[in-house]
Amino acid sequence: MRCQLIISALLGLFLTFHININDAVVFKFTNFVCESYNQSWFVFHNYRLKAVSRNKVLLNMNGTILHPAKNISIHVRIFKKANGYKPWLVNIYFDACQYFKKRNQPIANIIYRLFKDFSNLNHSCPYVGPQVVKDFYLRPELLRLPIPTGDYLLAIQWYFDEKLQFDTNVSFTFVEDLKKSK
Ligand SMILES: *[C@@H]1O[C@H](CO)[C@@H](O)[C@H](O)[C@H]1NC(C)=O
Ligand SMILES: *[C@@H]1O[C@H](CO)[C@@H](O)[C@H](O)[C@H]1NC(C)=O
Ligand SMILES: *[C@@H]1O[C@H](CO)[C@@H](O)[C@H](O)[C@H]1NC(C)=O
Ligand SMILES: *[C@@H]1O[C@H](CO)[C@@H](O)[C@H](O)[C@H]1NC(C)=O
Ligand SMILES: *[C@@H]1O[C@H](CO)[C@@H](O)[C@H](O)[C@H]1NC(C)=O
Repeated sequence: MRCQLIISALLGLFLTFHININDAVVFKFTNFVCESYNQSWFVFHNYRLKAVSRNKVLLNMNGTILHPAKNISIHVRIFKKANGYKPWLVNIYFDACQYFKKRNQPIANIIYRLFKDFSNLNHSCPYVGPQVVKDFYLRPELLRLPIPTGDYLLAIQWYFDEKLQFDTNVSFTFVEDLKKSK
């Protein structure tokens, strides 16, 4: 009896959680800014967003690493808009080469899961040559994380040999479907 109650309570929790996290009505890119700080190691050929429908925006990026990068670190921060962008929960700095071997960084896993199908960045170090992200769009069903409705900035800074080489900053909107999650 008691066990059943616990199970149904857990199931209830799971369903609520499941509904909350999957029923975003909007999850789309709103801005994308990149910049290289060392043109002799990394160049951007282009980076752009393209809206294909009201709620689907494609992100494309094409750059080249001119010499093999064997020592890569990534600084990931998320900001949430509220009178300007304020730091929001995520501020991590980690060894990307180790990450690509072990996938040992839960926050990075969430981001990686969203974009791995759209890029050639899904391998281990070293990195050299063309780095391409093609027609990447956001799929709320892959997010698996309840986040509040809002406008966000995901700022990613890429370091080679501990020196900042380039930024990839992407903004996005997330709107929960409040009707469904009640
Ligand atoms: C990316 O965002 C960070 C954090 O706001 C900022 O410091 C950096 O200048 C931005 N880079 C570009 C290229 O806009
Ligand atoms: C810029 O890139 C070159 C490789 O082309 C590297 O030797 C140099 O250390 C880098 N400089 C900085 C400040 O990252
Ligand atoms: C990326 O840009 C380079 C240089 O302009 C070009 O040669 C290459 O075809 C582009 N790759 C893709 C996938 O667009
Ligand atoms: C990387 O992505 C490509 C394109 O989707 C896929 O064919 C390949 O299997 C992926 N590789 C890894 C190691 O995930
Ligand atoms: C990466 O490069 C930095 C600066 O050269 C060095 O201090 C660090 O030990 C290197 N990390 C690895 C894992 O090789």
